[in-house]
Amino acid sequence: MAMYNKKSIEDVEVAGKKVLVRCDFNVPMKDGVITSDKRIVEALPTIKYLLSKGAKVILCSHMGKPKGQVVEKYSLAPVAARLSELLGINVALAADTTGEDAKAKAAALKEGEAMLLENVRFDIREEKNDPTMAKELADLAELYVNDAFGTAHRAHASTAGVADYLPAVCGYLIGKEIGIMGKALSNPERPFVAILGGAKVKDKLSVINNLLTKVDTLIIGGGMAYTFLAAQGKGTGTSLLDESKIDYCREMLEKAEAQGVKILLPVDTVVAKEFPDPIDAEIETTTVCSCCIPEDMMGLDIGEKTAALYAEAAKNAKTVVWNGPMGVFENPTLAKGTIAVAQALADSEATTIVGGGDSAAACEQLGFASEITHISTGGGASLEFLEGLELPGIACLNDKE
Ligand code: 3PG
Repeated sequence: MAMYNKKSIEDVEVAGKKVLVRCDFNVPMKDGVITSDKRIVEALPTIKYLLSKGAKVILCSHMGKPKGQVVEKYSLAPVAARLSELLGINVALAADTTGEDAKAKAAALKEGEAMLLENVRFDIREEKNDPTMAKELADLAELYVNDAFGTAHRAHASTAGVADYLPAVCGYLIGKEIGIMGKALSNPERPFVAILGGAKVKDKLSVINNLLTKVDTLIIGGGMAYTFLAAQGKGTGTSLLDESKIDYCREMLEKAEAQGVKILLPVDTVVAKEFPDPIDAEIETTTVCSCCIPEDMMGLDIGEKTAALYAEAAKNAKTVVWNGPMGVFENPTLAKGTIAVAQALADSEATTIVGGGDSAAACEQLGFASEITHISTGGGASLEFLEGLELPGIACLNDKE
């Protein structure tokens, strides 16, 4: 796996310097209102440190996928307002990203002041990692800090390219994320249990290969489980299935056996005739043995017996990593498996790490967040970290001497 030994903000002189800080302020929004400010709150330690040392802080982030267009609903204005509230100082939003207003506001910054550039993805060059944009960003500042763990798997102008033109170090959030998750993967307290779920079957299958070399028990739930059940020759009805990965799953089952890793698969499954539409619609379900899902039914959640089995494994573990819901958790009838797993992690004495995305949202919505050791701010980024992939937004930073 990628091991990082990167310089942090504490390793460099920041006083009086203009510091460009890439954060992940891609927060969930509804009707122009931020529905979870976790990513903003998690960026505060770095911002406060820099301000307290007398740096001139130029914050930047993306929001949504505006694809190089200025799209009003993806403006960072609500983020600037929330940052101002949380920091107790005015965080002015530039009207552009590297244009005249950004340059003027950055040039006028005083020590201990902060500003925010407008959405970096309003510029078509951002996602292309265009060096001309990276250079324009770099020209605003004298030091680059990446603290956007959630975007560290993207090689974009503001997450990676800019590091070609400025001294580049990591902030506290990136340090915390790779510290906690890195320790879990490289030197875990055992038993080490990983719980994987979610609908993105293809995405998750490659995580398994890496985790199998590290964990004592691998628990599979969510959409991915049906491909494993099919690999065992079980009927999966009309459940989500990635036929091209059945052989891969068979290989993984063999690899697990050879390495003495226990794999837990669902023993009972909550099934229905159709996927709920809309997703939270009332739905008629029944629970069947996972060995024989009827031909005209699809699995949509783990059953009670499976939930109890998984909870027991989490309870007996010393380290648990969880990524991906066990069923269609947006639907109250199909959320029970995910709730049971979240509850088991909350009750466990183990170091519990939730790898971002839907499972993090589930823990927060269900009110279990404070009982979890670490909930990652990364969705895709934490998944790629668990896969053992190098994250370009971290790899680009300066190494410690
Ligand atoms: C996320 O929400 O996972 C990050 O902000 C990255 O966003 P992206 O998938 O649009 O690159």
